[in-house]
Amino acid sequence: MREKALSILVLVMLGTVSAQKVTIPIPIGVSVAQTSNVALLGREQVIGAQIAEQFFNSQGGINGTPFKLYFEDTSGDEAGAINAFQTQINRNKVVAIIGPTLSQQAFAADKIAVEAKVPVIGPSNTAKGIPQIGDFVTRVSAPVAIVAPYAVKAALKLDPNIKKVAVMYAQNDAFSTSETGTFQDTVKAQGLEITTVQKFQTTDTDFTTQVTAALGTKPDLIIISGLAADGGNLVKQLRLAGFKGLLIGGNGLNTANVFPVCQQYCDGVIIAQAYSPTAPGSLNAAFRTVYKNTYKREPSQFTAQAFAGVQVVVTALRALDKQKKLDQWDLPELRVALMKQILSGRYNTPLGPISFGPDRDIIQESNYVAQIKMDADGKNGKFEFLK
Ligand code: ALA
Repeated sequence: MREKALSILVLVMLGTVSAQKVTIPIPIGVSVAQTSNVALLGREQVIGAQIAEQFFNSQGGINGTPFKLYFEDTSGDEAGAINAFQTQINRNKVVAIIGPTLSQQAFAADKIAVEAKVPVIGPSNTAKGIPQIGDFVTRVSAPVAIVAPYAVKAALKLDPNIKKVAVMYAQNDAFSTSETGTFQDTVKAQGLEITTVQKFQTTDTDFTTQVTAALGTKPDLIIISGLAADGGNLVKQLRLAGFKGLLIGGNGLNTANVFPVCQQYCDGVIIAQAYSPTAPGSLNAAFRTVYKNTYKREPSQFTAQAFAGVQVVVTALRALDKQKKLDQWDLPELRVALMKQILSGRYNTPLGPISFGPDRDIIQESNYVAQIKMDADGKNGKFEFLK
């Protein structure tokens, strides 16, 4: 008798859990790297998400209902991302998660969201295979296969005499491994010679072995796939060792936060971009103005992508709210409907118009290439757009 009463109680409790309503303000999770070296990228993402939160809430949020961003730091590794995702899903009870910063983290943490049927929008995960992690995963960050080749073509335009190319990449990082594959394919497709492929770790600070080996092959161009701290140090050490040719940095170096790392030696590094501050559209103009007023410089790709991630979730929630007010939805039901809605929309973001293909990957029309220009004192710099 007691056992029966107990099992009825458990069933009632389970029923209460599954019938859980969405809380107001609508909770949306943002889990990026706010600490560790990866915060060189993650800090820019926090700013983009915060600007979006203020901007869209000042427009009435979700048709009059406010939303709130919950920030849970992933730090720079897989365990941190897994913890942050679990907190977002189980404690903050978010409707969707924007994050994590690294593809390396996404391959570990996104599975948790897929199992819980919680939509994930990768704000900066550019490795091959991210949407394929599961049917609740998409991204607003164009993959390496689309973006990286533009940098090689831009380098050849700047110096048509390039023949020999050295390639270097962080072998312990999923995105860097994926990106170097694209770079190497592009180099070969352009009829250029790869003189050497040098590997390093994102935790390395001394690159003497790799620099000596690469420069020994007398390359005209060196291409680096790593993250901001290691990549920036490698750029600096290549220049200090006397390399005078062109340098391409991958997506992990695409931040003004790399300037203090490589200082004056950052000058001239070519980096492909999925965002341009001068791109047309009233939303980009508004986003850019807010950013510039606060930070006195142009917003970066990572900031714009995080803004776009929040925008996609908010826009999709607005559409669902028109079908049935959001506080009337059960949370699990809303999460499932939200993923479907996200994938079916088209969004005019600061990145330009974006939508999602049948494979859930981003379809983005605009791509750019920029070159770092440092001031003479090596303290400040900017990205100068080449196309
Ligand atoms: N684009 C980098 C990654 O995917 C930050 O890990």
